[in-house]
Amino acid sequence: MKVIRTRPHHAPIVAAYFAENESHLRPWSPLVPKSHHSLDSWRRRLEERELEFENGLSAHFIGTDDEEAHVIGTCSLSNVVRGVFLACHLGYSVAQRYEGQGHMKKIVAHAIGYAFDQMGLHRIMANHMPDNERSAGLLQSLGFHREGYARDYLMINGRWEDHVLNALINNKQ
Ligand SMILES: CC(C)(COP(=O)(O)OP(=O)(O)OC[C@H]1O[C@@H](n2cnc3c(N)ncnc32)[C@H](O)[C@@H]1OP(=O)(O)O)[C@@H](O)C(=O)NCCC(=O)NCCS
Repeated sequence: MKVIRTRPHHAPIVAAYFAENESHLRPWSPLVPKSHHSLDSWRRRLEERELEFENGLSAHFIGTDDEEAHVIGTCSLSNVVRGVFLACHLGYSVAQRYEGQGHMKKIVAHAIGYAFDQMGLHRIMANHMPDNERSAGLLQSLGFHREGYARDYLMINGRWEDHVLNALINNKQ
């Protein structure tokens, strides 16, 4: 597997990833119209993300096979705030057929390195629903610390869901 920044020409494999993993990701994702994951929609979104990246506002990554023929997992650094905060949110998912094999940890570790070493951020925030044990285990294994618990934090799959709040601090900066 290689981990690369998601670029506009990846729209077909990103759209295919979300189509193939729709039922796997649904319990942990916002409700979106079907058109959200169409090829056109991903083409547009990846162009928008390119602008965000150029302005230092987000960075999105995918893990792929060597030929970049399919997506193994995704990881996003979003909501970048600079100034006295130097922080962002982290989001991630792995294809059902690659779950539990350590690929996700490699992709997220790459994004963390990028956030700290290339973007100069100090804090990465990552939150999960209380019953998402895999997500909790992944964050723990990467050194994240629990910081709190927020009620009705995000609208997931059509319902407001509580979330456990976690963060990883850049000790070098
Ligand atoms: C959450 C998710 C990304 C985890 O991916 P994964 O493939 O299980 O992750 P990895 O195989 O890379 O595992 C990484 C670490 O998590 C740990 N882990 C995995 N499942 C675990 C579990 N059920 N309980 C405790 N720890 C667990 C592993 O032990 C591993 O740590 P280690 O290398 O120190 O042993 C994946 O289940 C997924 O995509 N779920 C659907 C989308 C989602 O929930 N996204 C996150 C929303 S907050």
